[in-house]
Amino acid sequence: MRVWAVVRVFLVLALCVTSGTLECGGRLMSEPEQRGAAVYTRMCSVCHGASAQGYAADNAPAIGNPHFLAVVPDSFLQTAISNGRSGTTMSAWSSGHSGPLGYKEITSVVAYLRSYDRLPHDALDESPLAGDARRGTAVFADRCARCHGERGTGGPYVHIGSADLLASATTGMLRATIRDGRPGTLMPSFGQELGRKGVDDVIAALRAFQAQYTPSLLPPAPKAPPLPLGPVPLNPRGPEPVGFNKQPSTTPADTVKRELDRGAKMALLDARASSDYLNEHIKGAVSVPFYDVTPYASQLPRDAWLVCYCACPHAESGNLARKLVELGFTKVTVLDEGLGVWRARKYGTSSGLDP
Ligand code: HEC
Ligand code: HEC
Repeated sequence: MRVWAVVRVFLVLALCVTSGTLECGGRLMSEPEQRGAAVYTRMCSVCHGASAQGYAADNAPAIGNPHFLAVVPDSFLQTAISNGRSGTTMSAWSSGHSGPLGYKEITSVVAYLRSYDRLPHDALDESPLAGDARRGTAVFADRCARCHGERGTGGPYVHIGSADLLASATTGMLRATIRDGRPGTLMPSFGQELGRKGVDDVIAALRAFQAQYTPSLLPPAPKAPPLPLGPVPLNPRGPEPVGFNKQPSTTPADTVKRELDRGAKMALLDARASSDYLNEHIKGAVSVPFYDVTPYASQLPRDAWLVCYCACPHAESGNLARKLVELGFTKVTVLDEGLGVWRARKYGTSSGLDP
């Protein structure tokens, strides 16, 4: 008996370390949690970190932080994962938005995130908001804008002014977060400084930003991933590109554009979720999501340069490039600046299934 107990502890520890499918308190994960952990590791860890601690790339928030999990219901998590957050690198992952995950997989990921949930869930103060948006706007500019952007978007951290977020964040969740902050992250607590009324003023300001916010992109009509691979490479009879740097080095957007204009032979691979590709992609690019390379690998040319990009600038594209090199592709590079720069320079983008 004693021996078995020791062996069991050993096995649990070994599995904790190697697979990440067991919670390292010795508790066995339920079947949905394990399924969710597998999806998480494949698709989410690149930005949110191996154990949902956040900030692995793109300032993706700490979604395994117990202080976050204590103030949001499952529906908040499901909505964020399904619909994504437009204007950020958080993709719409649900099949309803042409992403890769069905409802069952999304609820499994939520179950996995809940395995980090270990604080009591105090009742939230959902009483009607009693704030003054004008006063709150001044406080916001002074205290919040440097981290969250001028009107709650476009800053370095969570776009708290986006309609996507505010539509699913309750007044109680916003009150608790602004009052207590998020211990373990850069989000400070403002309860002492602003008082209950001041916190409500800021929330009223946020709700007013929301009313003025128009989501930039319409959801595409659902298409089941994996999307068909479009024509690769571009310019099959063209010359070799000049100035491309092999992975792990990157290639500047200006160089890629110059070589495209010269008619050089290459393939542009969009590494993001299929839903992002359908919304907008670099003109001529095909969809090869970083988490699902296998269905495409045999169809990609081995004799042409493969230029991987995302919106990030590098997290998902770097992940795809590494996988392609592991599969034996040798002419692989990452577009140094992501889609954002390509769009800003008006180098040409497309949407839907049109390459
Ligand atoms: C020093 C930077 C910083 C400042 C200043 C700051 N925040 Fe934050 N805030 C953050 C970070 C970082 C997060 C995300 C934390 C995480 O990973 O969960 C956050 C999260 C939030 C969230 C939760 C969003 C979500 O969906 O998880 C709200 C609401 C919020 N902040 C409101 C405010 C308000 C209102 C102010 C000003 C009164 C403010 N913040 C000031 C850094 C900041
Ligand atoms: C390319 C990087 C990236 C990947 C991959 C990614 N996310 Fe995110 N995620 C983000 C960013 C950035 C945000 C914050 C968006 C914002 O500003 O509202 C976010 C926000 C979220 C939120 C809302 C958190 C909050 O505080 O409001 C959840 C939940 C979430 N992601 C879950 C996931 C899951 C689950 C996956 C995998 C299926 C995933 N993410 C994959 C970048 C990413």
